Amino acid sequence: MPHTWDPDRYLTYADERGRPFVELVARVGAASPATVVDLGCGPGNLTTLLRERWPDADIRGLDSSPEMVEKAQAADPSIAFEVADLRTWAAEGQPVDVLVSNATLQWVPGHLDLLPALVSRVSPGGWIAFQVPGNFDEPSHTIRRDLAAEEPYAAHTREVAVPSSHDPAAYLEALTSLGCTVDAWETTYLHVLTGPDPVFTWVSGTGARPTLQALPGDLRPTFEDEFRRRLRAAYPERDGRVVLPFRRVFAVGHRS
Ligand SMILES: C[S@@+](CC[C@H](N)C(=O)[O-])C[C@H]1O[C@@H](n2cnc3c(N)ncnc32)[C@H](O)[C@@H]1O
Repeated sequence: MPHTWDPDRYLTYADERGRPFVELVARVGAASPATVVDLGCGPGNLTTLLRERWPDADIRGLDSSPEMVEKAQAADPSIAFEVADLRTWAAEGQPVDVLVSNATLQWVPGHLDLLPALVSRVSPGGWIAFQVPGNFDEPSHTIRRDLAAEEPYAAHTREVAVPSSHDPAAYLEALTSLGCTVDAWETTYLHVLTGPDPVFTWVSGTGARPTLQALPGDLRPTFEDEFRRRLRAAYPERDGRVVLPFRRVFAVGHRS
């Protein structure tokens, strides 16, 4: 079931969402790549960091969301952004020197099976680097799943897109078997959030969007109220601060 993205809502926590991108790209050893592609570039604010790192490269960003690409196009005119599905992109085309995908592959069902096609689009000596959330068993996700499975919501939410990912070892094995030298790891960030219902604000910009958008207008407010209530219990506020632990999984492959 398709859902849409809201770039401005997504950018609410731009700093927290951007840090893993910086830490991912820091492990890419390419000195002066000719071509760099950001798959699932979103609003493009992070793609522009690739321009700072590699000023002379031909940098491209693609994303399946027209709303995201429109925002990205305003971010940096020196980068070519386009609306495209990364699965189509993976299927054919010239090799690139650096392939980056941040917080996107979790939305591609069976993405482990896509890695051979993605690696085949990396030139010999090139790099593939991606990061995916690894927090799908945390309350921020389980509360949404449990509530969505209750009536009267279940009838509307059965078909929604469900993000998923693997442990670092699975990506290490997959990329190694494809001829890469691999650096894979995980990090749990402790995001300190403020303001009213900050965890709801966070998830409604990303992982909860398909569920929220699948609900009819008369059910969505009651769902959101109950979702907020359960999130407040799971992530209590202390002295005006709410701590959101967020595990992320990283993999960088150097193609020999
Ligand atoms: C959580 S956002 C990440 C955006 C950006 N990479 C970042 O780190 O800020 C996920 C993005 O993946 C895009 N996306 C999901 N599935 C995709 C696909 N099959 N092809 C291209 N983009 C996709 C969405 O449209 C969305 O912009």
